[in-house]
Amino acid sequence: MTTDPLQKLEQMRAEARAGGGEKRIEAQHAKGKLTARERLDLLLDQGSFEEIDAFRRHRSSNFGLDQQRPLGDGVVVGTGTIDGRLVAVFAQDFTVFGGSLAEEHASKICKVMDLSMKLGIPMIGLNDSGGARIQEGVVSLAGYSEIFLRNTLASGVVPQISAIMGPCAGGAVYSPALTDFILMVEGSSYMHITGPDVVKTVTHEEVTSSDLGGAHVHEEISGTSHFTCTDDAECLARIRRLLSFLPANNTEDAPVQPTEDPADRCEEALDSIIPEAPNQPYDMKKVIQAVVDEGDFLEIQQGFAPNLVIGLGRLAGRSVGLVANQPMALAGVLDIDASEKGARFVRFCDCFNIPIITFEDVPGFMPGTRQEHGGIIRRGAKLLYAYCEATVPKLTVVTRKAYGGAYCVLSSKSTRGDWNVAWPASEIAVMGAEGAAKIIHRREIAAADDSAAKEAEKVEEYRQMFANPYLAAERGLIDDIIQPSHTRPRLIRALQLLATKRQSNPPKKHGSIPL
Ligand code: HXC
Repeated sequence: MTTDPLQKLEQMRAEARAGGGEKRIEAQHAKGKLTARERLDLLLDQGSFEEIDAFRRHRSSNFGLDQQRPLGDGVVVGTGTIDGRLVAVFAQDFTVFGGSLAEEHASKICKVMDLSMKLGIPMIGLNDSGGARIQEGVVSLAGYSEIFLRNTLASGVVPQISAIMGPCAGGAVYSPALTDFILMVEGSSYMHITGPDVVKTVTHEEVTSSDLGGAHVHEEISGTSHFTCTDDAECLARIRRLLSFLPANNTEDAPVQPTEDPADRCEEALDSIIPEAPNQPYDMKKVIQAVVDEGDFLEIQQGFAPNLVIGLGRLAGRSVGLVANQPMALAGVLDIDASEKGARFVRFCDCFNIPIITFEDVPGFMPGTRQEHGGIIRRGAKLLYAYCEATVPKLTVVTRKAYGGAYCVLSSKSTRGDWNVAWPASEIAVMGAEGAAKIIHRREIAAADDSAAKEAEKVEEYRQMFANPYLAAERGLIDDIIQPSHTRPRLIRALQLLATKRQSNPPKKHGSIPL
C-alpha cells in the first residue's frame, strides 16, 4: 500500500469500486444481471452520481468475518439526477456477501433514506440481496426494522420506488412492500416470505422460487408488483419514465412536460367508440390514449385486475392519474382485486398532488360467494374511502354505465367529485334496465300471456325512462353532458379551473381506513 495520500485515496476508491471482485462480477453477469454500479450508471444521468459511505466496513468478527472486510459493505448509496432532478439511491451489491444486509449496510441505507426526507427527493432502492447477513445475527434484523420505520415515515412525503433485481426473501420483502412502486425483472428476481425448502417442510408443496414469487406471480396473481421488466436495463429505464410523472415530494407538483399536442384537440373517433349493444365491450385504454398528451399512457399493474385500468398520463403537460373501468375484462365490474388496486393508486395520487381522472363504465360490483366470502364489503370499501378522502382535483367522465353502489364509489358528485360529466349515451341508474324491469314488474310479467314480450316491453320502458344521463343532470349529480370527441379539451379546461382547488379533511391523527 502506498504512503502517498492521493494515491492511497485512488487505491481505496478502486477497491470500493471493485466490489466482490472479478469472479463474482462475472457470475453476476452470467445470470443476466448487472452489478450495482452498472445499474446506477444506467439509472442516473451520466456523471451525476455522488456516492457517500464508500469506505464503510462492517465491524463483526463472527465466523471469521474480520478476515473479510470489503469496502462499502455490499451496498452502494448516494444521490444523483434523473432528467436533471435529484434523487436518493441505494443499490445492493450481490457480489459482496450476496448483497446481504447487516449493521453497516443497513445504516448506509438509512442514512440515504434520511437524506431523501431532508432534501424532499424521491428514494429509489435497487434490491439484490440474500437477506439478513447470517453471520451478524440480530443486528441485521434491527437494521431491517430501522429501514421499515423509515419507509413508513417517508410514505406520502417522498415517492419511494423499489426495483427487485435478484433475490428478495424473508422479512426483507417488507421494505419494498411499504414503498409506492415495485418493479421486478422477469427471470432474475423473486420475492417471497419463505423459500421453497421451508414451504416443502411446512405444507409439503414442491415449488420453485420463481413459481412462488417470480415477477409473473406478483404481477398477475398477488398484485404486489407494479411493473414487470424483461431485463435490468428496461427496469432502470422504466424507473426514469415513472419518475417523470411524479413530484419530488408531497409539497410540490409534478414537473410540467411541454407538449406539441394541442389542448383543444378533439378526437372524432370517440364519438363512435361506444358499441350499439350495451353489453358489447370496447377498449377503455383506447379512450385514455385518445385523450392524454400524445397518447402517452404509463399503465401500472397491467397484469393484475385488468377490469380496472390505472396509470399515469399528462394533460396539457401536467401529470394526471387515470382510473378506468375496462369493459374488455369482466365487463369492467369492480371486484376485490380491482377495488384494492384502485384504492392504493387513488391514495398515492392524493398524497402527491396528482389530479385523478376517472373514466367510468361500470355495471356494478362482482356478485358471488367468492367475492362476498372474500370480503368485498370490507375490501371494496377501501376504494370508496380512498375517493372520499382524496382532496386533489377529481374529474369523472361516465362513458357508458354507472350503476348502483359502483356509481357512488367511483368519484361521484356526492363524494366530492369536482367535475363530473357523462357522454350522451350513458346510463346512470340504480341498475341495468333488464334487472330493474324484472324486479319492478315481476308480477305483471308473470301474469302476462306472453311473459317474454311483456318483459321486453317493460325493459324498454325502463330504458327509455332511466337509462340516460339526463336524470342525473337534472339533479346536478353530473355537471354536464359532453360530446365524447370533446373530452380532452373539456378535461383540460376543467383541470385549469381546478388548479387553485383548496380542500382539506377534518383535523385528525389519521383516518381508520378499512384495511
Ligand atoms: C451472508 C450470504 C447470504 C446471507 C448469500 N450470501 N446470502 N452471506 N448472509 N444471507 C453469500 C454466499 O455465502 C456467497 O458467498 C454469496 O453470497 C453468493 O451466494 P450464492 O449462494 O453463491 O449465490 P446464489 O447461488 O445465486 O444463491 C443466492 C441465494 C443463496 C439464493 C440468496 O445465497 C441463499 O439462499 N442465501 C441465504 C438466504 C437466506 O436464508 N437469508 C436469510 C433470510 S432470513 P461467496 O463468498 O461464496 O461469494 C432474512 C430475515 C430478514 O433475511 C428479516 C427482516 C425482518
